[in-house]
Amino acid sequence: EKTWVRMVTAQTPTNIAVIKYWGKRDETLILPVNDSISVTLDPAHLCTTTTVAVSPSFDQDRMWLNGKEISLSGGRYQNCLREIRARACDVQDEEKGIKIAKKDWEKLHVHVASYNNFPTAAGLASSAAGFACLVFALAKLMNAKEDNSELSAIARQGSGSACRSLFGGFVKWNMGKAEDGSDSLAVQLVDEKHWDELVIIIAVVSSRQKETSSTTGMRDSVETSLLLQHRAKEVVPKRTKQMEEAIKNRDFGSFAQLACADSNQFHAVCLDTCPPIFYMNDTSHRQVAYTFDAGPNAVLFAHNRKAATQLLQKLLFCFPPNSDADLNSYVIGDKSILK
Ligand code: PMV
Repeated sequence: EKTWVRMVTAQTPTNIAVIKYWGKRDETLILPVNDSISVTLDPAHLCTTTTVAVSPSFDQDRMWLNGKEISLSGGRYQNCLREIRARACDVQDEEKGIKIAKKDWEKLHVHVASYNNFPTAAGLASSAAGFACLVFALAKLMNAKEDNSELSAIARQGSGSACRSLFGGFVKWNMGKAEDGSDSLAVQLVDEKHWDELVIIIAVVSSRQKETSSTTGMRDSVETSLLLQHRAKEVVPKRTKQMEEAIKNRDFGSFAQLACADSNQFHAVCLDTCPPIFYMNDTSHRQVAYTFDAGPNAVLFAHNRKAATQLLQKLLFCFPPNSDADLNSYVIGDKSILK
């Protein structure tokens, strides 16, 4: 019998939260303790490219990340694969003479090759781009009919922040109420054209892998930080609404104030955690309108290209590259969407 391979390639940018997700109420389903809001970057700069392939000649599911084979046995990969397989449909590719019936997907195996064009696990949300891209590519390969919000609830089970990378522009992850997680998904607030003046600069002060994974960090924070309880209940609900308004009105003053305040509170929660978590280093703090994820790298917002250029000139002056701090500054433009 003649063998065949069906392949799909997708490209997904990472996203940067301006209202942070920190803390899970359910660790298996990855359900958060609060809503979050992020901006998706331009795929030209920080993105994952993933090719998924299926062939009757594959005898097991396998994956390569940046050219090295990694195990797919972890629960997060298994959950994503299982959820997409459950939604697979008939595929008919007349050009290549490929016909796959819905029921065949139970027996067929996939191979996955994924590349990040930026440091993996240094607090630049590589898992966000990675799982969003994996789920999106698998959904296309298997002809799943779900829309991007529905797919986001699957990507969420790979990595929470991944659900927000299924859309370009500004995206909100609704924490949801349902116990099965069916309403914990991402929606697009505005697309990437809405605020195309905004420039995002990522100052990479360290590309080393972070010491505390977000999984461990969040678990410790949920178990020990009273500030986290207060933040989730009293602060984020109101701040999320204000941030939505600021984004809708392209109000840079409010946007900057809210993003900085939220980044500060997230890192305060980390310090309020037992044992305390330190994600920033000394170079991290000398910036202006900023947000920091679970790593020392600053994400800066400038309200137009002129301001960004001035900021970059200052940054390059302040932090000449040395052996540890590889100061690569990516200037992120406005276009970001899945291909
Ligand atoms: O999706 P995770 O498990 O990598 O968690 C990401 C958490 C932060 O990046 C710190 C904040 C966020 O909302 O992206």
